[in-house]
Amino acid sequence: MSCSHPELSDTRVLITGAAARIGKTTAQHLADCGADVAIHYRSSEEPARRLRDELNDQGITCEILQADLTDVDELSDLVARADDAIGPINALVNNAAIWRDTPFGDVTHSQWDALFDTNLRAPFFLTQQFANRAADRPGACVVNLVDVFGKRPLVGYSAYGMSKAALWYMTEVLAAELAPHIRVNGIAPGTVLLNEDHDADMADELDERIPMGLTGGPEDVAETVAFLIGGPSYITGEVIAVDGARRHIAD
Ligand SMILES: NC(=O)c1ccc[n+]([C@@H]2O[C@H](COP(=O)([O-])OP(=O)(O)OC[C@H]3O[C@@H](n4cnc5c(N)ncnc54)[C@H](OP(=O)(O)O)[C@@H]3O)[C@@H](O)[C@H]2O)c1
Repeated sequence: MSCSHPELSDTRVLITGAAARIGKTTAQHLADCGADVAIHYRSSEEPARRLRDELNDQGITCEILQADLTDVDELSDLVARADDAIGPINALVNNAAIWRDTPFGDVTHSQWDALFDTNLRAPFFLTQQFANRAADRPGACVVNLVDVFGKRPLVGYSAYGMSKAALWYMTEVLAAELAPHIRVNGIAPGTVLLNEDHDADMADELDERIPMGLTGGPEDVAETVAFLIGGPSYITGEVIAVDGARRHIAD
């Protein structure tokens, strides 16, 4: 993927959940744009190592950091570890998340805790760590991976949707609270990368429901992350939909 943001050569970024899928594509794209990258992973150690080696071979400074973001102790020093690994980071991408089918009547306390700890508490406290260390770093910014279903209801996924709705709110309120030192923006993907439980028929059916006629790809998100990190410095508190206009139609 070519890069239209060469100014990212002054960027050192921590990306959570970056060993696979959207996070991996984002890490590769930011590296192609010249950024140094700290790749966080939880369980995908081998893919994380392979990605680090691939980026190191391209001459990119890249290190990997393991942490379970639902574990408060492991969460608490992740930004400091990223600073130590690749130098003072000036961009944080809160990408790691979980997605659970949670019909309202069946939601358990442990499902609730897992969704909110991963999708909301971790980005909140990582942003706090980042703000406490990076406020005087040029270009300091945060990008949160939200979801179009953080704004519109998705029946059967209330707990997931609420965790993303709160992350959307967090993006807006922290943009105001951390200005003028740190920009905070978000991306609200529609369907850009299907999960393993989607078969080909389900994928075709989804495409028909998207005004653009197809699901997007992780590169659509990656390019938007690069734009938000390197783009106009007056954009903050914005959540950009990357959804082929899916948010504008009824399901
Ligand atoms: N895929 C889509 O179409 C879509 C649509 C809307 C929004 N989004 C959002 O875009 C982002 C990326 O989506 P994705 O589909 O690529 O995500 P994903 O594959 O479901 O998850 C990304 C990574 O999150 C990490 N993770 C999960 N629980 C963790 C924990 N407790 N501690 C640390 N890391 C943890 C995992 O790392 P390990 O593999 O190392 O365990 C995983 O690889 C997410 O925020 C998602 O909500 C995606």
